[in-house]
Amino acid sequence: MKVIFCCIFILNFLTTKLFSEKTNENSPTVSLVTGGAGFIGAHVTNELIKIGHKVIVLDDLSGGAEENVHPQAIFIKGSIEDRDLLGELFSSYQFDYVYHLAAYAAEGLSHFIKRFNYTNNLIGSVNLINESIKHKVKCFIFISSIAVYGKGQVPLREDMVPLPEDPYGIAKLAIEQELRVSHDIFGLNYVIFRPHNVYGEYQNLGDKYRNVIGIFMNQLMQGKSLSVFGDGLQKRAFTYIGDIAPYIANCINVPKAYNQIINIGSDQEYTVKELAKQVMEAMEIERQITYLDPRKEVQDAYSDHTKAKAIFDIQHQTSLKKGLSLMANWAKKAGIRKSKKFENIEIHENLPPFWLQE
Ligand SMILES: NC(=O)c1ccc[n+]([C@@H]2O[C@H](COP(=O)([O-])OP(=O)(O)OC[C@H]3O[C@@H](n4cnc5c(N)ncnc54)[C@H](O)[C@@H]3O)[C@@H](O)[C@H]2O)c1
Repeated sequence: MKVIFCCIFILNFLTTKLFSEKTNENSPTVSLVTGGAGFIGAHVTNELIKIGHKVIVLDDLSGGAEENVHPQAIFIKGSIEDRDLLGELFSSYQFDYVYHLAAYAAEGLSHFIKRFNYTNNLIGSVNLINESIKHKVKCFIFISSIAVYGKGQVPLREDMVPLPEDPYGIAKLAIEQELRVSHDIFGLNYVIFRPHNVYGEYQNLGDKYRNVIGIFMNQLMQGKSLSVFGDGLQKRAFTYIGDIAPYIANCINVPKAYNQIINIGSDQEYTVKELAKQVMEAMEIERQITYLDPRKEVQDAYSDHTKAKAIFDIQHQTSLKKGLSLMANWAKKAGIRKSKKFENIEIHENLPPFWLQE
């Protein structure tokens, strides 16, 4: 009996030590990063480790890779859809901050996977918001998107009325609204970022449904032509990851950022055709462009960053040439990635035929 009691005591002690370090005054700030094995989440994790946070990464590895996770972070494989797991994590770690990046961010495909989009991206987020309220998280940092604006007048500004054009953007907007009312009713603080067309090291190169720069680099490495929807004259501003990750991580220390919605990213727009040319230069590989039938998408989407610059005193933006060269060096080392077909397409009508190819 004594032995059993002793074992239970030791187990209890170890669990408390492992999971409840916050009882100690000198304990570090604890942050949860959802989607931390993904592209932007991995960079945000690295920035948080730099400023001394204890970071718990929750990722189901549907789009990310464990090798992206900083070795000092605690990695937990699991989904934001799993309410029991979230309950256990929030009780065990008592997070100070939640950085929520987990999502399947295939905007164009979201029309054809509506149910998956809303379950994974929206309901998963609501699960996290509920736990953050219950456990009195100090601030919830949400990575939204300029997809919330729809086809607004460019450059898109935070004071415009958002009118998203696809389920991905609708889910992002619903989460933003949920955070607003959760702040009003429960006092949950938030910072919402609306980034756009982010690229750089660790980006998933093997997803044919999203990340145009990653798709181009992967195609070039495979000796294929570059696939462009429509005439390639649609305009986007491509944002180097190093220009946003530090601001996302450190926003918790910037009072002016609290309970604000903030566009963040590059000011300089390019046509997709110009982008294709610059990616070829960065990769030092020349190929033809194959123009596909246009898909339904917003023609021009880039945003105004006056607010972000004022709040964070942003002085510098990496040029596309420099950013692409940094990413190309990494991509050449990372090598070719096989693109998988999304298995559970819910609606096949109007699905671009290119997405049906192997
Ligand atoms: N990359 C961009 O240009 C861009 C632009 C605007 C907004 N965003 C947003 O930034 C966030 C990160 O995007 P990213 O480009 O790094 O994509 P990413 O796919 O590299 O990262 C997302 C991560 O979330 C994980 N994930 C997905 N569903 C999950 C679930 N149910 N539970 C746990 N983990 C899950 C994936 O495995 C992946 O590691 C997303 O919320 C995305 O909507 C990205």
